[in-house]
Amino acid sequence: MSVKIFDTPDVQAFLRKVSGLDQAGGDPRTKRIAHRILSDLYRAIDDLDVTPDEYWAGIAWLNELGAAGQAGLISPGLGLDHFLDLRLDALDAELGIENRTPRTIEGPLYVAGAPVVEGFARLDDGRDRNGHTLVMHGVVKGDDGAPVPGARVEVWHCDTRGFYSHFDPTGEQAPFNMRRTIVADEQGRYGFRSIVPKGYGVPPGSPTERLLFALGRHGQRPAHIHFFVSADGHRKLTTQINIAGDPLVNDDFAYATRDGLVPRIVERDDEAGIRAYGLDGPFAEIAFDFWLSPLVDGVDNQLVERPRAAA
Ligand SMILES: [Fe+2]
Repeated sequence: MSVKIFDTPDVQAFLRKVSGLDQAGGDPRTKRIAHRILSDLYRAIDDLDVTPDEYWAGIAWLNELGAAGQAGLISPGLGLDHFLDLRLDALDAELGIENRTPRTIEGPLYVAGAPVVEGFARLDDGRDRNGHTLVMHGVVKGDDGAPVPGARVEVWHCDTRGFYSHFDPTGEQAPFNMRRTIVADEQGRYGFRSIVPKGYGVPPGSPTERLLFALGRHGQRPAHIHFFVSADGHRKLTTQINIAGDPLVNDDFAYATRDGLVPRIVERDDEAGIRAYGLDGPFAEIAFDFWLSPLVDGVDNQLVERPRAAA
């Protein structure tokens, strides 16, 4: 037997009441959003005949998700981070702004306060013995193609076990390992030496993974490197590059892969290259330029403020 009560005057009045719309106090924007989301949820329960058992299983899952600190992890997993990017893309299209370097999701693992290095940085501390040396370099450009001296390239990535410093469950990594802020030189050039990161997945058995499995999905990401690129007079770019050849490069649970963000990675063993970077053996090289977009009416109209870790 199925009943439908969502459209009754009693339920509609009740939704207005629980959202505070019959009260003068509170925050109007919060009330509006709460009313909309609660209405959609009530309607879904009604339409799908969600049973009390199903509902309480969902509440228990939310409690576990919060206790595990994984709201920021399931968010990209359910495509919401990518959806926000698609909306920013659409806004840019409306404004006639072209992003030659596409934006993509930030993810939850940025930490503010990384050491600042001029021009060329070493990101890793050499303790990840499984790491294959990586050199990545390029130029930060404005939308006219001119280099942007002094641009700030914030970079962060994981080790070969898929762990980020500050979030390493083994506690083995020093603070800010594989995290730096690189200041581009007079020609707008940035560069760094590190190791090629590996892909990683959501914690096994976690509430995030359990939901993804229930959806018939996985919780794995291809290897990638995160960036914020910013400079005076330009909008801050949030993006990632993928390591080409990773089998999951087009099967990312967080939907961060985008055309233009999978640069060629070249294996080099020539003496000149090894010497040029002061290395002791073969390395992988990625050349990648970041293109920034200009401010809109003097402001960064897409600057995202969100709670972030700092150390
Ligand atoms: Fe990541």
